[in-house]
Amino acid sequence: MKFFVFYLIIFCAFTLTSCRKQDKHEISVAIGGAPSELDFWNDIIKNFEKKNGCKIKFLRQSSDTDQNRQQLIIALRAKKRNPDLFLMDTAWIVQFAASQWLEPLDQYFSHDKIDKSVFFKKIITLSDTYKNELIALPVYVDAGMLYYRKDLLNKYGFNNPPNTWQELVDQSIKIQKKERRQNPNFYGFVWQGAQYEGLVCCFLEFAGSNNGGFINKNFMLKLNNPANRQSLQFMYDLIHTYKISPPNTYTEMREDSTRLFFENANALFQRNWPYAWALLQKDSSPVKGKIGIAPLPHFPSGKSAAALGGWHIGMSKFSDNKPLAWKFIKYVISYDTQKKFTMELGWNPGRQDLYNDPDVLRKNPHFSKLKQIFRNALARPNVPYYTQISNCIQKYLNAAIAGKIPIAQSLKRADNDLSKIIKNYEQK
Ligand code: GLC
Repeated sequence: MKFFVFYLIIFCAFTLTSCRKQDKHEISVAIGGAPSELDFWNDIIKNFEKKNGCKIKFLRQSSDTDQNRQQLIIALRAKKRNPDLFLMDTAWIVQFAASQWLEPLDQYFSHDKIDKSVFFKKIITLSDTYKNELIALPVYVDAGMLYYRKDLLNKYGFNNPPNTWQELVDQSIKIQKKERRQNPNFYGFVWQGAQYEGLVCCFLEFAGSNNGGFINKNFMLKLNNPANRQSLQFMYDLIHTYKISPPNTYTEMREDSTRLFFENANALFQRNWPYAWALLQKDSSPVKGKIGIAPLPHFPSGKSAAALGGWHIGMSKFSDNKPLAWKFIKYVISYDTQKKFTMELGWNPGRQDLYNDPDVLRKNPHFSKLKQIFRNALARPNVPYYTQISNCIQKYLNAAIAGKIPIAQSLKRADNDLSKIIKNYEQK
């Protein structure tokens, strides 16, 4: 019997430790993105492994931010040791920090004397700091932009991309009509209208460019106000009245479906994040060399607005190999790695110093404009329950642009639900 107990203890100890990583030379990293982005990450990871004689388990995540978050939450709620590291959307870092899932990075930072000022101050403050602790670092920064077909604007006598939304509608109607003679699938303007986080970003931009929106210094405002109603009405009109945005805008249009639609030469304008630039300029892209990039248009009394997005690297509090995890973070945020991401994927680095690098500027001439756009970009509410807020807003905005609920009613109902969500969380 004694013998049996002895073997049982040995067996249990073995099983438990075998769940741990076998040695101190291994970590796992969860990253989401488009397939070409993940392939590039794979090269970056291989390079790190070679340099450091270690093993990194690369866990490929979805490119959809909402699905990506769900996948990570399952592991973190269960306090799993894997993944040690992950990329987080700026929209949900605070939720992760408030749930106590993130390892504060200040001690590692000061130990290695890393200069914080190389990063955009606004981004470090807004996205990467929680209760005075540094809990993530920016890998790349996003802001919504207008992509346009330079060749088509020239062909139809327009010298510049539109400054106002009305100009965008006028140019689209004229060019769509003519282009449809050769291409019946051609549309004026594609943007993200499916029911997901991307729609919230688009709404923030339309409304923000009309002096509307839903937050002011992190306070939720009432959605049902004249500026927001007019902006949402305009989003509806793009699809149903002017018919310059395709009917599947509210069922299917996410970042990559929009990008592919535009890349296949089926649209004059597209709203997207900076990542689309490098893909549109690939040799295989039918619109290579034919596109320009500009700030998004605005309403007559407003000014151009871009939503602040981006992805940040964070370390799990439950990691059992923090020294190696930190080494990998340092490598990802280093000048050289960030330069590679920028040169290969067209990502906008979280480091400011790369915006003066001559190679970077040569490859991405639009970067000089972007620095300013990032500084003014509109953040989403930085609260731990943002996901609930977003789910509620997505649902009503999507129903409104699909024509299922009248505009004013959708915003009023969103306000009602939002006040319950906020009350529920603020009372906790
Ligand atoms: C991009 C942005 C992210 C945003 C998402 C919406 O990935 O970087 O911040 O939440 O798009 O789809």
